[in-house]
Amino acid sequence: MKLIHTISDLHSLLGAYRHPAVVPTMGNLHAGHIALVQAAKSLGDVTVATVFVNRLQFGPNEDFDTYPRTLEQDCAKLEEVGCDIVFAPAEKELYPQPQTFLVQPPPALANILEGEFRPGFFTGVATVVMKLLSATQARTAVFGKKDYQQLMVIRQMVQQFAMPVDIVGLDTRRADDGLAMSSRNGYLSSSERQAAVLLSQTLKTFADALRSGRTDYAALEAQAMQTLTDAGWKPDYVTARRRTDLQAPHNGDALVVLAAARLGTTRLIDNLEV
Ligand code: PAJ
Repeated sequence: MKLIHTISDLHSLLGAYRHPAVVPTMGNLHAGHIALVQAAKSLGDVTVATVFVNRLQFGPNEDFDTYPRTLEQDCAKLEEVGCDIVFAPAEKELYPQPQTFLVQPPPALANILEGEFRPGFFTGVATVVMKLLSATQARTAVFGKKDYQQLMVIRQMVQQFAMPVDIVGLDTRRADDGLAMSSRNGYLSSSERQAAVLLSQTLKTFADALRSGRTDYAALEAQAMQTLTDAGWKPDYVTARRRTDLQAPHNGDALVVLAAARLGTTRLIDNLEV
């Protein structure tokens, strides 16, 4: 496995390949990330993982400075599963000048849900993903459904810009109790970690109610928000949306339930397809 820090070294190396399969990450890798890399291995002729904590997608009061940076351990995990190349650029390499060209996703998709609570987040994500896919000459890129809205933004970006990349979405990896794996789970105290299972449980209860045929979405949302609030969480949203565009559902649509909530100082997100 090669650890590469510059775009020019990456391009020299990639000259020998036709079909890079790329997994963009911010590092601090867990089994969810590693599953994406394992999937990528059969989707191209060279597997590239990128590790870059992207300042552009963090708000001023978010955790950019404290986000865990664990490149050495990340490389060990990637090597173990047979990743070929790790691209871990310094900030000056990816953003040598202030990034004044930005990819701005449409407000109808980017200003709802995560975008409502994290203004500018999806512009930061779309911009860095555009740049990473370009730098890695990706022909296939693998993302997790854990970040459901992000996956949708990236799919639409690639489609609208006619980028020569297939986007593959993989199911969320969970701990045994159901908590979706996330780098931010490391912020939880041990008692918070035990309590954190409530987020996926609440989504499952919500999804089960929808599967049983209920269509009183507002009542179900209020109930789910209350469940979390009663247990001391601060939910931003728990909501049922159409899978196709994340807008409010009509009867008969394929649905996904999505949630974001703060437990102590840690903000967690999760979702379940119904
Ligand atoms: P990060 O949070 O590191 O996630 C990298 C990829 O791993 C994303 O596609 C995410 O959806 C996926 N992932 C995270 N947890 C997962 C889980 N439990 N199961 C399956 N996949 C999981 O998402 C980002 O980084 C950034 O926004 C990025 C796309 C790299 C742009 O900076």
